[in-house]
Amino acid sequence: MRALVWHGKGDIRCDTVPDPQIENPGDMIVKITTTAICGSDLHLFDGYMPMMEDGDILGHEPMGEVVEVGGDVKNLQVGDRVVVPFTIACGTCFFCQKELYSCCDTTNRDAKKAAEMMGHAPAGLFGYSHLTGHYPGGQAEYLRVPHADVSPLKIENDSLSDEQVLFLSDIFPTGYMAAENADIEPGDTVAVWGCGPVGQFAIQSAWMFGAGRVIAIDRVPERLEMAAKQGRAEVINFEKIEGGVYDRLQEMTNGRGPDRCIDAVGAEAHSSGAFDAVLDKAKAAVMLATDRAHVLREAIMCCRKGGTVSIPGVYIGFVDKMPMGAAMNKGLTLKMGQTHMKRYTQPLLDRINAGEIDPSFVITHNRPLEEGPELYKTFRDKEDGCIKVVLKP
Ligand SMILES: NC(=O)c1ccc[n+]([C@@H]2O[C@H](COP(=O)([O-])OP(=O)(O)OC[C@H]3O[C@@H](n4cnc5c(N)ncnc54)[C@H](O)[C@@H]3O)[C@@H](O)[C@H]2O)c1
Ligand SMILES: [Zn+2]
Ligand SMILES: [Zn+2]
Repeated sequence: MRALVWHGKGDIRCDTVPDPQIENPGDMIVKITTTAICGSDLHLFDGYMPMMEDGDILGHEPMGEVVEVGGDVKNLQVGDRVVVPFTIACGTCFFCQKELYSCCDTTNRDAKKAAEMMGHAPAGLFGYSHLTGHYPGGQAEYLRVPHADVSPLKIENDSLSDEQVLFLSDIFPTGYMAAENADIEPGDTVAVWGCGPVGQFAIQSAWMFGAGRVIAIDRVPERLEMAAKQGRAEVINFEKIEGGVYDRLQEMTNGRGPDRCIDAVGAEAHSSGAFDAVLDKAKAAVMLATDRAHVLREAIMCCRKGGTVSIPGVYIGFVDKMPMGAAMNKGLTLKMGQTHMKRYTQPLLDRINAGEIDPSFVITHNRPLEEGPELYKTFRDKEDGCIKVVLKP
């Protein structure tokens, strides 16, 4: 089959690789009809994620048609149309029982290595390195899906296109969990850093939780425009304002600060010359640091006393210069995590079915899988108005 394969930092190719096979009775094979590139994939492309290996198949936002099932699969059958969430959950361990699916204790096949780095191993993820189980990903013609009965979501409404339901695999639930983690109370002012796909869904979801105002921050004009038009957000272009984001946000909230702050940027934040960001960049370049956490620091500084900072943005390793004094003395709550997908997929599908939201609004590029390698660059460099890439194997 054809698949997008990682060969090193900045080197992704569309290769011919062996088709996946059923390995366990709980597995299924899905023929991928539509798949996407995620902001998280950019951390792999840019070499921020350790433990990638030459030959790893990428991709964790796929959907398609079931073409084979193992003997233990009860809920799905050949011919079913499914969205496959990016976290692999067993459904039965201590963490899955608590609906902490991205903390599943049994699916990370590299648990020992991951625990050395993180204290405990998070769940296995599709196409996301040897830190999260080295599972081949879904930017491919076929995908082996372990624990097929647990997370995959059957789509029965044929009038919905792939593009309308695909993002139940990751970014819609991720934006939604970000808003939920933000503890939004009716009327709250919610600031969202990052107007990429995750930020766009965090904005949409903030309204669902009763936000009174949403303020979106980025520097890419078309992303800010989408946040303003589709997301009804007030926007700040952090490269175009006098002073800084802190001053602007305090001004907009009469000095109190936003009640809830969402970091939908993560480990690769940009900045227009802030001291901490310059240091991060220098340290990352010589491997003295792994993450550029400028946005997280800024969100902590901006957030109102007693507020919440919710972090869907991915961090990978170690971060320094954290304003812990500010977080502690202002009494902030910090919540974060890879999305506990299975909690959210069915309720959000119900919202799509009810016509409350059509997630396809974020798509700017819909192309053949073969063009994937080029589109990784387009997406990373925000060229050609690119906000979200969807690929057809
Ligand atoms: N928690 C999860 O389960 C989960 C799932 C999916 C994605 N993610 C993470 O969410 C983050 C966003 O994903 P995405 O697909 O939207 O990525 P993206 O790269 O398309 O978007 C990031 C956006 O942040 C903006 N940005 C950079 N520096 C900024 C700054 N200083 N202030 C404000 N905005 C800034 C960029 O211009 C860009 O538009 C990534 O870190 C990704 O790994 C997490
Ligand atoms: Zn993702
Ligand atoms: Zn589990």
